[in-house]
Amino acid sequence: MEKIVSLLAKELEEAFGQAGYEKEYAKVTLSNRPDLCEYQCNGAMAGAKAYKKAPIMIAEAVVANLKDSACIESAEAVKPGFINIRLDKKFVADYLNAMLEEEACGIEKLENPKTIIVDYGGANVAKPLHVGHLRSAIIGESIKRIGRYMGNKVIGDVHLGDWGYQMGLVITELKKRQPELPYFDEAFEGEYPSEAPFTIGELEEIYPMASAYAKDHEEYKKEALQATYLLQNGHRGYRAVWKHIMNISVADLKKNYGNLNVEFDLWKGEADAQEYIPDMVERLKAEGYAHYDDGALVVDVKEESDTKEVPPCMILKSDGAALYDTTDLATLVEREKFYAPDEVIYLTDKRQELHFVQVFRCAKKTGIVREEVALRFLGFGTMNGKDGKPFKTRDGGVMRLEYLLKDIEEQMYQKLSDNRTVAEEEIAKTAKQIALAAVKYGDLSNQASKDYVFDVERFTSFEGNTGPYILYTIVRIKSILAKYEEMGNTLEGLEVNPANTESEKALMLEAAKFNSVIEFAYEELAPHKICAYIYDLANAFNRFYHEVKILGEEDTDVKKGYIALLKVTKKVLELCIDMLGFEAPERM
Ligand code: ARG
Repeated sequence: MEKIVSLLAKELEEAFGQAGYEKEYAKVTLSNRPDLCEYQCNGAMAGAKAYKKAPIMIAEAVVANLKDSACIESAEAVKPGFINIRLDKKFVADYLNAMLEEEACGIEKLENPKTIIVDYGGANVAKPLHVGHLRSAIIGESIKRIGRYMGNKVIGDVHLGDWGYQMGLVITELKKRQPELPYFDEAFEGEYPSEAPFTIGELEEIYPMASAYAKDHEEYKKEALQATYLLQNGHRGYRAVWKHIMNISVADLKKNYGNLNVEFDLWKGEADAQEYIPDMVERLKAEGYAHYDDGALVVDVKEESDTKEVPPCMILKSDGAALYDTTDLATLVEREKFYAPDEVIYLTDKRQELHFVQVFRCAKKTGIVREEVALRFLGFGTMNGKDGKPFKTRDGGVMRLEYLLKDIEEQMYQKLSDNRTVAEEEIAKTAKQIALAAVKYGDLSNQASKDYVFDVERFTSFEGNTGPYILYTIVRIKSILAKYEEMGNTLEGLEVNPANTESEKALMLEAAKFNSVIEFAYEELAPHKICAYIYDLANAFNRFYHEVKILGEEDTDVKKGYIALLKVTKKVLELCIDMLGFEAPERM
């Protein structure tokens, strides 16, 4: 559906034209003085210079032409030259009714949908998934979903860190503990066992142990580096161990991401890029893009307009080893080959920004991706504890994602048990849903690039700007709709009526903004705009709910209209939280 701002802009273009002014001045925005009007146009002020006229004269002439507009109830010229607009009540009601009819509730799908790859999650295999990876998963999942609602083909790729030193460490430690395994017998030519020589529990213990040990034991570290080198260069036994590590870790990661309602289409990683490296390097050399600098192979990527130094993109270290830059470039080679994306969006901690600047420039300059491909980086800030320092467990360790969620779930379980609003057998599931909403909304409601304080107490509150408050509002609506049905009514075929009261109109106006908000959040990669919107919408609903007797309304037609309005509100809220990656329970 066409957005209200565009419908209004069309009316204003007409009116500007009729008054003898250029249409370009007819831009309409939401009002920034909601006490005075609902929408506004400031074009008369912009036009004043060009026409050498007082802005108020232009505004008055335009307003005179808006008298017959079907979507405008009143348009007023206000000094120095604002045009203040209030929407026609029937127009708004019709707009909401059309939203109810549509599956996507009025989202204006893109005329030219794109193929977009979202590179997020980024877990490092063999290392436990910790809160540092939480943000990438949560924000990335939302970006992916918003993109899909806009009509794009969006492919989520977890892009695992599965090729580094941590693998060499695990192999070295395993060899130390079980040297008799066939993987370490250089003469072994048979088939390796299909069963892994460790469980996920053991694997989780091996890595941190080995990593700490290597820090104080030079010999051990050398061995681990050598094992990494051999693995990367095709050592048969190490490859087999690597496969075991991968199978076990990926199964565990799928479970963990699943608990977060995060799903990937592709489970690729750094290892998948390796086969593209040799040809890519050859080409960069042959075509003169890469040159040797102090033994390392690099591509210059600095630009004249740079205000900070952008060092060259490192393609190979002096010992010939590939690096993070290399892998990301080779991954783009693969992505071009299989998906030819119009856009690739990367989500990592914002401290990786320079790396992506280098990779993007290098990929464009050397033609690894086509000129028109949009490479975008969404860098996020740190999740801090209440002390303002990066979030840690109570005893100062790195908090494992699993435990963090479990903790909050247990708190919610307790709260629900005390409240006694949810049936016994529903409590566990509901506690999970609320905990997830608390964590995700707590994260997503902040602008991604900013650091934020992970405040469990605040995030789990049923009041205020929180996930649980949004769920609570949806549950409240669901319960009214259920009661309405229990009273022998149907929810089908109801229509929203033109608003009678101020709070009713305010709620309707808020709901009608849905498609504008989503479009903006999509363009700006800004899920926090959706959070801010549903908080406003939930507040508008709750105000209406407290002022109006919905089920107690005696006039059946009016009551039907209210119920229809609740249906739209619920639909909008539910679509929004789906885009944020969580869902509402039946009761709470
Ligand atoms: N594994 C990396 C990390 O933990 C994140 C990977 C992000 N994606 C990418 N294409 N570089 O920092």
